[in-house]
Amino acid sequence: MLRIQTIGIGLLVLGVAVTAAAQPPAPKATGIESEGYVWNEMMGEKVEALDLSPDVVNGQDAFEVCSACHLPNGAGRPDGTFPQLAGQHRTVVIKQIADIREGRRDNPIMYPFAKTLTDSQELADVAAYIETLPIPHGNGKGPGTNLARGKELYDANCVQCHGDDGAGDAAKFYPVLAGQHYKYMLRQIRDIAAGRRRNANPDMVKVVVNFSDDDLQAVVDHMSRIEWPERQAQQQTQP
Ligand code: HEC
Ligand code: HEC
Repeated sequence: MLRIQTIGIGLLVLGVAVTAAAQPPAPKATGIESEGYVWNEMMGEKVEALDLSPDVVNGQDAFEVCSACHLPNGAGRPDGTFPQLAGQHRTVVIKQIADIREGRRDNPIMYPFAKTLTDSQELADVAAYIETLPIPHGNGKGPGTNLARGKELYDANCVQCHGDDGAGDAAKFYPVLAGQHYKYMLRQIRDIAAGRRRNANPDMVKVVVNFSDDDLQAVVDHMSRIEWPERQAQQQTQP
């Protein structure tokens, strides 16, 4: 049964990918490379989705196509190809997907699938569903070779936005990073420092732009080990 369902989703993804190949590429909205860029400007479908009351059951249905990459429990992959999503603030999910759909965050792999969400209601629904999922244990960690330096950098430069427990801040659209994969975070922070992540927060850019690559690695290695008990899944106690 589970196998058949997995094959079904695989075919669905293949179908969307084939259809997507025939479609025009993602649009481009202005991002951090443009003068006058305002981070998280309150406009577009993000504002609509934030205001709607979500239907979590419909969100679970809409998540089926997402689970092909992000997995049914939202855990993504420790190799960093697909981020961990479970327990992410709904505000953050709505912002990120709206940015991808509007072309402010480039994500050619996911773009056609982001388009499967029919409207801002379904965007609100899937974001609310993702927020209900407990953050799984067993995310990908860094090499663990420079953890004292990583903690020092985190406490001095990141904690004010990302929090002691990696919980971020839902009201400010700061993401939950507790339980996120090291390799995904390393790719993102390198992209943010280099100006390639076009929807990045300029205040964070100012902080990381002067970091050496060793320091970027050390700080995300520390982050990959942070736990946020409030949304973390129960540790398995069975032998
Ligand atoms: C074909 C694989 C694929 C599918 C299907 C897919 N995604 Fe993604 N998603 C990705 C990749 C790859 C990234 C990270 C891209 C990058 O490195 O910037 C991502 C990133 C994200 C992010 C940003 C996470 C963050 O930490 O900022 C969110 C939110 C997200 N996906 C939600 C969804 C939802 C909801 C769906 C279903 C509607 C979906 N994805 C379907 C591949 C996929
Ligand atoms: C001023 C607040 C702020 C500071 C300081 C800050 N960040 Fe961020 N960070 C953010 C926001 C906001 C985002 C999401 C940006 C967006 O809207 O796409 C983010 C995104 C990230 C991401 C990518 C997450 C994802 O899900 O894709 C990583 C990794 C990260 N921050 C690490 C750090 C580290 C490490 C530091 C300290 C060296 C730091 N940040 C400092 C606000 C901040």
